[in-house]
Amino acid sequence: MARIGVYGGTFNPIHNTHIEIAKAALEQYKLDKVYFLVAGTPPHKNTAETISDISRLEMVKIAIADTPGLDVDEREIYRAGKSYSYLTFTEYHQEYPDDEIFFIMGSDSLLNFKNWVKPDIISEYTTILVAPRLGDDINDIEQSIFECKNMFDGDFMLIDYKANAIASSEIRGAFYKDTEIKSDVPKIVADYIVEHNLYSLYTYTPEDITRIDSEMKKELKPGRYIHTLGVANMAYSLAIKWNYPAVTAQVAGMLHDCAKCISDEKRLSVCEKNNIPVTDIERQYPHLLHGKVGAYYCKSKYDVYDEQIAHAIEVHTTGCPNMNLLDKIIFVADYIEPGRDKQPRLDVIRACAFKDLDLCVYLILEDTVNYLNTNPDMVDPTTIDTFEFYKSLIEKR
Ligand SMILES: [Fe+2]
Ligand SMILES: [Fe+2]
Repeated sequence: MARIGVYGGTFNPIHNTHIEIAKAALEQYKLDKVYFLVAGTPPHKNTAETISDISRLEMVKIAIADTPGLDVDEREIYRAGKSYSYLTFTEYHQEYPDDEIFFIMGSDSLLNFKNWVKPDIISEYTTILVAPRLGDDINDIEQSIFECKNMFDGDFMLIDYKANAIASSEIRGAFYKDTEIKSDVPKIVADYIVEHNLYSLYTYTPEDITRIDSEMKKELKPGRYIHTLGVANMAYSLAIKWNYPAVTAQVAGMLHDCAKCISDEKRLSVCEKNNIPVTDIERQYPHLLHGKVGAYYCKSKYDVYDEQIAHAIEVHTTGCPNMNLLDKIIFVADYIEPGRDKQPRLDVIRACAFKDLDLCVYLILEDTVNYLNTNPDMVDPTTIDTFEFYKSLIEKR
């Protein structure tokens, strides 16, 4: 008979204490395995802190990948209709009829347990293990356990673990303000949060899109405006595929060519006045500067202060070695938006954009370098550096 732990929570984000609690439960109750049961988001929640369910799930997966005995259960994320814990444990009861199921929950959940839907079924099918949270008084938890035992005639036990890290809500609120806080999540999770721009200080609404859209309509020539809409929509789709905040990617797409329809003199003078460095090749071909000037215009003209958006716009023409996720989304969207039809093997590159983003970037660079080689004077060295970086990245696989 196996002893299976199921640790329920939103894990927004998963942090070190979650992992330590799962490990403590594994050891103390001699469990064979602990599944992290990632809860879906209730539909009414819609704040900057509400990130996609898939991002929460992915963070759990990468956080526990190398820890023996820990696994993830995706069923509540993908369940149709309302998702209740009693449904999950009814399923567990059917799937593991001969095994013992342990439901690990935080002490805050225990306090509210009697108000859950069908708590009697949960306590019938599982032994409930309660994990203390930071600042908990153990006497209070023991009192709650005593009350639940009486009320439900089930097994409720305490995990012997002293929580010493902060809660997920504090991590979300202070992630970009307090560098210390990053050490409360596994490094791979902290990197994921940054790469996917989660819990950002900046979020965008449909009203922002409407405002920027009307500015671009005025600012850009008609063909460039149509291209811009194509890039914004493609960026939105790619963002959904690669778990990036989709409206942020859409804003970056809307603004990526915002400095395309101004004169070369104007681009050079903006750089000069604002200490934006200009390379030799950019001085020779100032249209190459529309990325750098566009990045500057984000803040100064369009009230968009997100550094990731500015960076993606800055590098969208040449790319740069080791691009971040939004850089790649905009770089690729610019090349494959629906209005493009001249580049070779576009169908392959478009399919690849939704399958393997780094390979897609490499294919685009390969074709760009081949094309530019017909006029070697025009080749920006950054394009070559970027090409070499992605060539070696793909070859090392
Ligand atoms: Fe451009
Ligand atoms: Fe473009």
